Amino acid sequence: MAINFDAQSRIFHLATAHTSYVIGLNEESQALHLYWGAHLSDPDVWAILAPRQMHASFEVESCIKAFEYPCHGTGDYRTPAARVLNADGNSVTCLTYAGHEIYSGKKPLDGLPAVYCREDSDAETLELRLKDELTGLEVVLNYSVFEEMDVICRSARYENHGDKSLRLLAGAAASVDFFGKDYDFLHLQGAWARERVPERLPVTHGLYSIESRRGASGHQHNPFVALMSKNADEFNGDVYGFSLIYSGSFAATVEGTAYACTRVTIGLNPYSFNWELKPGESFQTPEAAMVYSDKGLNLMSQRYHTLYRTHLCRGKYALAERPILINNWEATYFGFNEEKIVEIARAGKEMGLELFVLDDGWFGKRDTDNCSLGDWVVDKKKLPNGLDHLAKRINELGMKFGLWFEPEMVSPDSDLYRAHPDWCIHVPGRARTQARQQLILDLSRADVCDYIIEAVSSVLRSAPISYVKWDMNRNMTEIGSALLDSEHQGEVEHRYMLGLYRVLETITQSFPDVLFESCSGGGGRFDAGLLYYMPQTWTSDDTDAIERLKIQYSTSMVYPISAIGSHVSAVPNHQTGRTTPMQTRCDVAMSGNFGFELDLSKLSEDDMATAKKAVELCKRIRGTVQQGEFTRLLSPYEGSMTAWQFVRGDAVILCYFKVLNVPAEPLRRIKMKGLDPDAHYRAEDGTVYSGGALMNMGYPADWRMRDFESRVILLEKV
Ligand code: DGJ
Repeated sequence: MAINFDAQSRIFHLATAHTSYVIGLNEESQALHLYWGAHLSDPDVWAILAPRQMHASFEVESCIKAFEYPCHGTGDYRTPAARVLNADGNSVTCLTYAGHEIYSGKKPLDGLPAVYCREDSDAETLELRLKDELTGLEVVLNYSVFEEMDVICRSARYENHGDKSLRLLAGAAASVDFFGKDYDFLHLQGAWARERVPERLPVTHGLYSIESRRGASGHQHNPFVALMSKNADEFNGDVYGFSLIYSGSFAATVEGTAYACTRVTIGLNPYSFNWELKPGESFQTPEAAMVYSDKGLNLMSQRYHTLYRTHLCRGKYALAERPILINNWEATYFGFNEEKIVEIARAGKEMGLELFVLDDGWFGKRDTDNCSLGDWVVDKKKLPNGLDHLAKRINELGMKFGLWFEPEMVSPDSDLYRAHPDWCIHVPGRARTQARQQLILDLSRADVCDYIIEAVSSVLRSAPISYVKWDMNRNMTEIGSALLDSEHQGEVEHRYMLGLYRVLETITQSFPDVLFESCSGGGGRFDAGLLYYMPQTWTSDDTDAIERLKIQYSTSMVYPISAIGSHVSAVPNHQTGRTTPMQTRCDVAMSGNFGFELDLSKLSEDDMATAKKAVELCKRIRGTVQQGEFTRLLSPYEGSMTAWQFVRGDAVILCYFKVLNVPAEPLRRIKMKGLDPDAHYRAEDGTVYSGGALMNMGYPADWRMRDFESRVILLEKV
């Protein structure tokens, strides 16, 4: 049993294979957090934790209690998980225990992406019901415990059982109080083309907020935070990860308090959230996946990878090997015609590529980015024979055909906008701020969502399209909806996300054979929410191999390799101007979902031969790369060498990359991880190493490597 309740001590023990999470009810029937960390046995929990922690908790004032779901207004002055404006104008909420239910399996979350069970036995769920006796608000805290995967998923459902409307001003997915303040925390910050740079900071007295107010998870902060013991690194120490399964505005806060306590909260961003909850209504928060690791960041990441690959991503591609593609964006930008596309595809076919993806510019009159979004009708000037004809020509070459869309957007210069100027997010009387010369369709409206579903579906029905790249290239401004009254404008952002999720659910379920990839100006919406619908994401618009070492390394902090899209592009690189060898570009891109994004018809013979070999190699190893266990070995943020490895069954792949050569650098050995110390592993050159030697002594890295060079070493357990 993953969840046990001891009626005498009134303690819940949520146990996974290697971790325990403990909640207790005190004499006032408040739900208090007692413990999260390494696995404890039930008797330990009942006998040791109960008296000590409970005693400490109810003897002192509220502001040092470790609340399981803290509220505003009764003496806890830290960040609340719940903040509710009551009908009489105050925002005091007091939640106490009103019952619980434990069952096997996990229910889907109404309208929201969430981790799921393949079999009911995958998880056990605790629904802990808390009630505000005065207002009739009930909050049901959901804890789904995935025993084998060592993960706990949390969310909250607000139910109004009173007779007056309430307003939700904050509704976190999870809040956890840690005893002690001697922690660091890690989050992923960035910008366009420089996404997800890890930043590690000490917990101090005060509040640190990682957030998006953009209506999308964003390039700037990823919806993830990890609290770490001071000694934690990639392989050692305690790490507590919080990953939010949501794609809109979010906040994750880390707060150190006067009484040496650290509170971590993650959920919807309260900044502009204001949701009316009428009597009889309920509101479901997004879900957070929480992972504890006692062996540093790598183990936390591996747990997220397994969870998200196998219990978040859905559909036939979730666990399948991904096709190697050629995308025409950096090859042609908007300047292509049918013959150019077929020329690139033909060169791709010669290299063994499997999928051609036609990017932006195929519709309306889109020769640059100032028009036509919303008009999803093929541009006959560029493609006079239509999409169906082109897709079939590509199919005849022996490749599948994929297509780019940006369905959430509208260009002011479009037939759609001229017909429906009120279909975009806007505030009447105010200028509509444009970004990339476009506006955002108002997906809080059902009619707009239905339009998108039909517009995209009819294109998908019109031609043999096997892949969709779903792009989204700007964030929200002047957030307002023409269909909502003034009382409900604070709901637009979240209603947009619910609309988007309905659109994605409908389209992806209607076209189960299509592989969907999400994208947002590169990796501006790389989050677990979208992985529920689309099992891979375009990682960054920065395709420079050396920059990609960093971006892919830190994206893997939370997200599985099977989610990470990675392409070989031309040199000098379009974003950095850097020139790197074709081999290195291939080796970096092959460490994710491999593809190409350059004019293949212009490749030199040498580069063509190198790329062709890489494609052959990728076909041999992609199962291990995309579905195996990934370990980060040497960080691109720390030294001149970056290294990572993949292991699946008997197959082991070590990749290492020299960023800049250093004179008189000491001989390098790369210590591998997670191998069988007593087994032997044969490299392709015939050398046999013991697992123990590879892990303890390390693999002898090639010391002759030049700047930007790479090596991929294949080993097999013998
Ligand atoms: C942004 C994406 O990240 C690019 O890959 C490309 O699809 C462009 N949009 C097209 O406008």
